Amino acid sequence: MSIAIGIIGLGTVGSGTVKILFENQSLIKKRLGCPLIIKKIAVRDPSLPRLVEVPDTLLTTDVESLFRDPDIKIVVELIGGLEPARTFILQAIKAGKHVVTANKAVLAEYGQEIFKAAKEAGVDVAFEAAVGGGIPIIKTLKESLAGNRILSLTGIVNGTCNYILTRMTEENISFEEVLSQAQKAGYAEADPSLDIDGLDAAHKLVILTTLAYGTEVSIDDIYVEGIRNIEPTDIAFAKEFGFVTKLLAMCKETEEGLEVRVHPTLIPEKHVLASVRMAYNAFYIRGDAVGDVLLYGLGAGQLPTGSAVVSDIIDLARNVLSGGSGRVPPLSYQLSDLARLPIKPMD
Ligand code: HSE
Repeated sequence: MSIAIGIIGLGTVGSGTVKILFENQSLIKKRLGCPLIIKKIAVRDPSLPRLVEVPDTLLTTDVESLFRDPDIKIVVELIGGLEPARTFILQAIKAGKHVVTANKAVLAEYGQEIFKAAKEAGVDVAFEAAVGGGIPIIKTLKESLAGNRILSLTGIVNGTCNYILTRMTEENISFEEVLSQAQKAGYAEADPSLDIDGLDAAHKLVILTTLAYGTEVSIDDIYVEGIRNIEPTDIAFAKEFGFVTKLLAMCKETEEGLEVRVHPTLIPEKHVLASVRMAYNAFYIRGDAVGDVLLYGLGAGQLPTGSAVVSDIIDLARNVLSGGSGRVPPLSYQLSDLARLPIKPMD
């Protein structure tokens, strides 16, 4: 007995995932009770240089061959972006495959469609890597805090923005200067607008709010403001009064409904989130039973994000081995049973 998987995409996250699966192969086998085998990796151009060494025989340009292969039980989508990622995920689901994805944009935009399709097909979609890279925020909300009413969730969820704001604060340099240095060093994307205008954080917040409250949130429900217009003088003034400037993503239960927003925020320098520096992410969750919980770590990168993808693959493989009635019920079933709260419009 073994579990075979197919991977779509061998970029940064794909390479990290494959590295972990190769290097920790025997450990994973022990934990799972059987081998976990990469059957195929679909890529656009097999001749491209890679961050990980893989045998040529594993590579294919025929994505659909993964869906047709009866041995493949889990398809791992790691190409990012909306299309063709959405189509591939839906095709995999229709073919009866469980899906792992790290794609926050596709879940934020098409999550309802994807989870509905998964429910109909009786498969699960796992997405720990879509938010917070290697930090287990999805499992924390879905599993560990499942007995709590979530009163609020506040996160530093974009490493690029936190890196820029940290350096602006500590070195008193301009937004443009840090951004251009970060791009040269490869920390920021060539087109960083999704990050600095807050949309990446908003995509992540859609996923977190849906999980925490079972409410259908759309990106348009969220107040979003990025960090592009922050000046060193704004940061210096805040500092003088004992505050640190952070881009926060927040969802909070209020009497009128849910408040869901992303914007630069002044937080007291003694607050635990104020010490989250550079490209680190953190999540500060308040549950009615558990109280305050803090998660901290790397929200991006080859191995941290690969770590989250591999944990999802192992979870789903356990479900396959136990005949679909694994440790964690599929999210599509959980959501329908949660109390739905209205979104409170922002003033
Ligand atoms: N661009 C994202 C960030 C990567 O800077 O946090 C991880 O989602």
